Amino acid sequence: MTPAREPIVQVLLPRDWAAGSLVEDVQRGLGSLPLTLPPKWLYDDRGSQLFDAITRLPEYYPTERERSILRTHAHDIVRESGADTLVELGSGTSDKTRTLLDAFTAAGVLERFVPLDVSEATLRDAAAEISAAYPGLQVEAVVGDFTLHLGSLPRGGTRMVAFLGGTIGNLYVEERGAFLGALAYSLAPGDSLLVGTDLVKSADRLVAAYDDAEGVTADFVLNSLRVLNRELGADFDLERFRYVPFWDPSMERMDLRVRSEVPQSVRVPGAGLELELAAGQEIRVEISAKFRPEGIARELRDAGFEVVRTWTDDAGDFALTLARIPAGTDPTPGSP
Ligand code: AVJ
Repeated sequence: MTPAREPIVQVLLPRDWAAGSLVEDVQRGLGSLPLTLPPKWLYDDRGSQLFDAITRLPEYYPTERERSILRTHAHDIVRESGADTLVELGSGTSDKTRTLLDAFTAAGVLERFVPLDVSEATLRDAAAEISAAYPGLQVEAVVGDFTLHLGSLPRGGTRMVAFLGGTIGNLYVEERGAFLGALAYSLAPGDSLLVGTDLVKSADRLVAAYDDAEGVTADFVLNSLRVLNRELGADFDLERFRYVPFWDPSMERMDLRVRSEVPQSVRVPGAGLELELAAGQEIRVEISAKFRPEGIARELRDAGFEVVRTWTDDAGDFALTLARIPAGTDPTPGSP
């Protein structure tokens, strides 16, 4: 048997990156109207656990739907991608990835797995587990931010970049364009992207998925205020805020906000802010865009990909799209 290889871990984020970037994000988001907070700060330890609980809620269908597409079509995906390297953006615990890794290993074509995540601890654990479970696989983990470090992904071989979970829906449309463009630029002809997107469906089901009966999602979104209390010494009183999710039909996205129930002032010393919130004033914490297959295809083509194939689950709730950088695309110049 091939011995397990030691994972390689490349750290692209400075140790104090989170602290500095949180302050900037909060100053930008709460320093002007409309008030917003970027969703990446939802995922501290408690937030990650709450998100995990969300994925097991009966109302929250995307995780199960995506898993079922992967289970049914992983072999096709592997074959059509022609990849020998699997890159996973925002890999977290790499749980769904195992379905892909299994299919790649069954086909005997996988050489490298490159998980990228901002959380070094999660990534090190996942890298060690995957290395042990897939002997002969080289794991090259990257501690980084997928909006900043695409240019530093390990090169060589034929890569398939997996961006699962519908996380692309958390980006605003212009951020999505920038992200897909930067990704296309960082890839070579023949490399591909496998992207998971939640599809437009009835408002009732969408709202239910983000406003569950147990209140786990409310807890998860309100946890963003707890993060600011802890990291920036803020004094948000969570009792005086309410979670308000709604479906925005013109933007085709879920809009997840917290609303100040009363007029109140909140201090955020770590960001040098004093907020005066009116009763009913809202802070947007996350959007979750929903897609139509033709819309995803258009955005991918605009970024320089060609769409190879789209798979959906039996209910048509969720889609996985494989898109490739066509031959004849100018190769990416060497990294700076
Ligand atoms: C995993 C980030 C895509 O938008 O559905 C779930 C996050 N937020 N419930 C989503 C989330 C509230 C989730 N993403």
